[in-house]
Amino acid sequence: MNTSDHPGAITPGQFRDRFRLPHGPQGHDSLYFCGNSLGLQPIAAADAVAAELERWASLGVGGHFDGPLAWMTYHRLVTDNLALLAGAQRSEVVAMNSLTVNLHLMMVSFFQPVGKRRRILIERGAFPSDRHAVASQLALHGLDLAHDLVELAPRRDGLLHEEDLEDYLERYGDSVALVLWPGVQYATGQVFDLARIARACRRANVTLGLDLAHAIGNIPLELHDWEVDFAVWCSYKYLNAGPGAVAGCFVHERHAEFKGLRLAGWWGHDEKSRFRMGPEFKPSKGAEGWQLSNPPILAMAPLWASLDLFAEADLHALRRASLGLTGHLASELNGRLHEVIRIITPLEPHRRGCQLSLQVRAGRQAGRQLFERLEAHGVVADWREPDIIRVAPVPLYNTVEEVDNFVDLVEKLL
Ligand SMILES: Cc1ncc(COP(=O)(O)O)c(C=O)c1O
Repeated sequence: MNTSDHPGAITPGQFRDRFRLPHGPQGHDSLYFCGNSLGLQPIAAADAVAAELERWASLGVGGHFDGPLAWMTYHRLVTDNLALLAGAQRSEVVAMNSLTVNLHLMMVSFFQPVGKRRRILIERGAFPSDRHAVASQLALHGLDLAHDLVELAPRRDGLLHEEDLEDYLERYGDSVALVLWPGVQYATGQVFDLARIARACRRANVTLGLDLAHAIGNIPLELHDWEVDFAVWCSYKYLNAGPGAVAGCFVHERHAEFKGLRLAGWWGHDEKSRFRMGPEFKPSKGAEGWQLSNPPILAMAPLWASLDLFAEADLHALRRASLGLTGHLASELNGRLHEVIRIITPLEPHRRGCQLSLQVRAGRQAGRQLFERLEAHGVVADWREPDIIRVAPVPLYNTVEEVDNFVDLVEKLL
């Protein structure tokens, strides 16, 4: 694989020395392929947190207003970089809360069933938290899960097809109020053509919300140009901002002056008059208008530190490196172990991100056994029921050599 013929190219693992790598069982470095679940800790994260602890100790409440890191506007330190990763304008993104909280906030505003148009369409096998959130929003409107939740099924190949979503919307679009779709399906690793899905939703006049938990920092996004209505993501996977990190939210510019229902809090109030402490709520324009509380600075600091690495590396360069790195894993597995391992992630470059989802052809028990043996040898990947091993080489910190070592190990253990 050669990525060096592109200007600004990066080599997989080029930023490895900017991260802390957990130790494996015998004190050796682990083979860490779990950035799809929890990204590694950027070294700069600890410094950023320590700096805020120190500012708190030395400035007390003065930290709210002191210098460029003033806590009053600290959440804006990440806005430019989030906008780059989301393909958004600055006013369209905000870092706040956690993914599921943001999803609820968005659905309160953007799922407004009227008459026949009241269904929510998701994928069958959606991440459980999304399904719980959707089910509870339907209940909030007194709607019936059995009729008003549509779960689009994968085909026999186990994958979801954009065409099926288009067909559904063409036929029944006037009954759908909201499509909630993932950027990358968490179990299979399938990447969707989000531009196409957004076009289908617009044709049918249906609101589109995206769950980008597995997409942000993994694949390039153009949320503004695609005219997605809203999107939410977490920051502890490919964004490396730490367990339970502050999540993100996108609201398209056309909703900047949103007049409908929202769950409001003082931090969403227009900044200029927020501290007049008046009783009425005057929302800030854009995504910031959905903020509820003043941001958790100690949790925001690692996000700031980690997003700087993306700005330095450039997401498009990372994506090129990722296509090579994950492509290498796929071709080694298929070349050497095709008889025993099935890759369920589609392998066309535009339909996959960092992650490959693997099944052992001999069945669940053999798969689980392989997974446990890999773990005992220092491989950090993850297991998703009933029989999936997810492996995600991340171009910021994983190398081609690690991928080779992983495939050697799988071959040996099988
Ligand atoms: C696809 C997807 N959606 C939603 C969530 C829930 O995220 P949170 O616990 O941050 O709300 C996750 C968590 O891993 C996820 O992978």
